[in-house]
Amino acid sequence: MVIIAIETSCDETSVAIFKNGKILANIISSQIKEHTKYGGVVPELASRLHLKNFSYVLSEALEKANIKIIELQYIAYTAKPGLIGALHIGKIIAETLANYLNIPILPLNHLYGHIYASAIDNDFLFPLLAALVSGGHTQLILMKKHLDFEILGSTLDDAIGECYDKVARMLDLGYPGGPIIDKLASAGELGQYHFPLPLNDNSYNFSFSGLKSAVANLIVKEQLNTKIKLSNFCATFQKTCVDIIMRKTKLAIKNFQPQKVTLVGGVSANSALRTAILNLATTNLKVIIPELEYCTDNAAMIARLAAQEILENNIKEGD
Ligand code: KG4
Ligand code: ZN
Repeated sequence: MVIIAIETSCDETSVAIFKNGKILANIISSQIKEHTKYGGVVPELASRLHLKNFSYVLSEALEKANIKIIELQYIAYTAKPGLIGALHIGKIIAETLANYLNIPILPLNHLYGHIYASAIDNDFLFPLLAALVSGGHTQLILMKKHLDFEILGSTLDDAIGECYDKVARMLDLGYPGGPIIDKLASAGELGQYHFPLPLNDNSYNFSFSGLKSAVANLIVKEQLNTKIKLSNFCATFQKTCVDIIMRKTKLAIKNFQPQKVTLVGGVSANSALRTAILNLATTNLKVIIPELEYCTDNAAMIARLAAQEILENNIKEGD
């Protein structure tokens, strides 16, 4: 089974080649540099850059995997959710390739792809609880079997990654804010600042816009007085984010007794959140976080999801 997967939902152009259970190539061309000067992703620019970079990324992937284009048997691409123009580029390329090669095409969900990133190097155990934390989503998802996704709760407003990015922008730290705040936070100390835990209730939902406002208010107040102690500020912000994700994740573990927990999506690259989730492991509860290259947007996760779809739905390969 040779699958090519295409990911263009936001600001990463990625192509992966998957053969017989293994990722042979996962090429990711990030557009971050081009968007940084605007303080965030510019959708129109993202679409143009996907188009510009795609053929190079495709050639790199085929070369690295040592696969000829005529050997491809399935094509998978991210169909939703994402930036509409960026998604369209991936769709048009995927459909063109599928028609040209006369092979089956699988339009797939980006969020489910993030979850299947943790099945690339490990097997799922069910029930599986996934904490999906990305720039666009924050969800707790329960899976009782393959391809069966029950959303227990979601953010009611901003996503956690979006909150990191917006807070970084308020502090003039650059884009994307997650990795920058993460780094500053690890050098900071707790105690100087305080933020309330957002939506600290017994639901599985999240709310990050209140936290964003609390941060904005504190920035204004602190700047009127003295200068903000950046590392301490970031440490407290990060702890608040981690604490609320952990509180809701623990609640879901208590109520649904999963055999395995996984942390997925771009924010799963966060050092404090990774440590906190890994600490949940017991003899009865396995914890798995994908390798860093499979945390932020990548096509390997789409290829792995495609492999499962092909297996479960018995989709016949192209010839
Ligand atoms: O999954 P992803 O690549 O794209 C979406 O599907 O949204 O996630 C991107 C998000 C950005 O908001 C970025 O700031 C965040 O992941 N991120 C992090 C870290 N690395 C990336 N957030 C916190 N800590 C990090 N180390
Ligand atoms: Zn993503």
